Amino acid sequence: MPALDRRAFMTAMGLAAATPLLRPARAAASAAGPLRLAAGPSEHRLHPEAAALSRLWTYNGATPGPEIRLRQGERLRVRLDNRLEEATSIHWHGIRIANAMDGVAGLTQDPVAPGGGFDYDFVVPDAGTYWYHAHNKSWNQVARGLYGPLIVEEPEPVYDRAHDITLMIDDWRLGRDGAFDAASLGAMMDWSHGGRLGNWLTVNGESRPVFALKAGEPYRLRLVNAANARVLELDPRRFDARVIAYDGQALPQPARLDYAPFLLGPAQRVDLAVVPRRDFALEELSGGEPFAFARFAVSGRPGGAAPALPALRPGALPEPDLAAARPVRLVMQGGAMGGPVDITYKGEKLDGRDMRDSGQVWAFNGVANLAEEPLFSARRGETILLETVNSTGWIHAMHLHGHHFRVTARSGATAGDGRAWRDTFLVGPQQTTTIAFVADNPGRWLLHCHMLEHAAAGMNTWFEVA
Ligand code: C2O
Ligand code: CU
Repeated sequence: MPALDRRAFMTAMGLAAATPLLRPARAAASAAGPLRLAAGPSEHRLHPEAAALSRLWTYNGATPGPEIRLRQGERLRVRLDNRLEEATSIHWHGIRIANAMDGVAGLTQDPVAPGGGFDYDFVVPDAGTYWYHAHNKSWNQVARGLYGPLIVEEPEPVYDRAHDITLMIDDWRLGRDGAFDAASLGAMMDWSHGGRLGNWLTVNGESRPVFALKAGEPYRLRLVNAANARVLELDPRRFDARVIAYDGQALPQPARLDYAPFLLGPAQRVDLAVVPRRDFALEELSGGEPFAFARFAVSGRPGGAAPALPALRPGALPEPDLAAARPVRLVMQGGAMGGPVDITYKGEKLDGRDMRDSGQVWAFNGVANLAEEPLFSARRGETILLETVNSTGWIHAMHLHGHHFRVTARSGATAGDGRAWRDTFLVGPQQTTTIAFVADNPGRWLLHCHMLEHAAAGMNTWFEVA
C-alpha cells in the first residue's frame, strides 16, 4: 500500500484554531417537512496550501454533507434533489432499513436522473454511528465527496453534545496543484489493484483539524472511514482509548484493544471512549512514520482517578442460530496477481480482452457483478453462515446490506471480538472469514466489497430474503 505522500503534502503546520463540531441537522419527522439534500457540484480547498480549489460533488455544498442526527426509533424523511450531471441515489449505510429505502440504484430503486428527486422515509431502529453516501457509480460519486454522517442517538444520550465528536475521515487523491485529481478516476490500475488510494487525509473535510477537549472528562469519538479504498491503520491504545462500538453497534462493555495496528476498513466505523489527560493525536500508521491527521488540544488538569466510562446499551439484534444455520460459500477471485480466473459477466464468459473492455476483473464464485440469480434466497428468519474465501492477493472490506452479523471465524487470526456486531468485515489476502446473521429483513440486498473500485469491477452480488 503506498504511503500517504508526505513529500508532496506534508509540511509543518502550526496548530489551527479549535475546530467547531459539525453542525447537526435535526432531522426527525417534523412539521417542517423533510430534510433536503441537494447533490451538486461545489468547490473546496482540500489542502491548506493548494494552488487550486477542488471541484467536488457534495450534498448541500459541503463535504461531508450535513450531519444528520436523530433519536433511536425516530423517523427520517429526506428529499434528495439531483443537481448532478449523472444519475444518483442515497444509501443509508448500516441502517436495518426497509428494502425500498436502501438506496441501491438498479436493485432497490431506479437511479434518480439529473434534475429529478427521490423521497426517503424510514425509521432508524438502532442507536449508533452510521453514514449516508451515493450509491450509483459510487466509485465516482463517493470519491468526489457525496457522503455524510448519520448519527442515531440513544433514547437518553449517554454523552452530551459537547462530549460526542464525529470524525469522518477521507483520503483524497490530489494532483500537483493540491486539487482533487479527477482525471485518474476510473483508472484500471486502481480497479485491478488496491482501489483508488489518496495522498491526503481530511477529517470532516478539513486538514489536520484540532479539537479542544477538557482533561479528565469522558468523550466519545465516532470515527467513520469514508475513503473509497484505504484501510486506515490506527492505534487507539496510544491515547488509552476504549472501543465502545463497531459499525454503529455498541459493545456490552468498553473494550481495550490488545493489538495494533487496528484496521478501520472503508465504510467501517469505530466509536472510541477516551478520558484525555494531555494532548494527543489520531495517527495513520501505514506509512514510514505516523501521520497525525487530527489533533486534540486538552485543557485543564485531570482530577484524581479517571471517571468510569459510561456504558452503552447494545442493540436488540436477532441472535444467529448456529446449530440450524444454512452455509453459503463465497469465493473471491481475480484482480492483479490473482492468477487466471474464468469470469462470467451478464451471462457470458469473458476472455482477457472483454475483461479489459468491460472493466470486470474481479468475481464472486466466478461471476462479476449482479447476475439474474441471487447468491442465495433465504427464508425469513433463517440463519445464514457465510464463509468468504479470499483467493485474491488483496485485502477487501465486505459489506452486507440490511443486516448486521457476527464474525464467527477468521483463518490465521482470532475471530476478533465475538460479542461485536458489524456490517462490514475485512478479509485479508488468502484469508477465509465466516460471518453469521439472521436473514430477517425481507427484500433484495446487496453484498459487495466496499473498496468501491472493486465493487465496480465485479465484486458485487445480491441475495434475497423472502
Ligand atoms: Cu456503504 Cu453498498 O454501501
Ligand atoms: Cu475489494
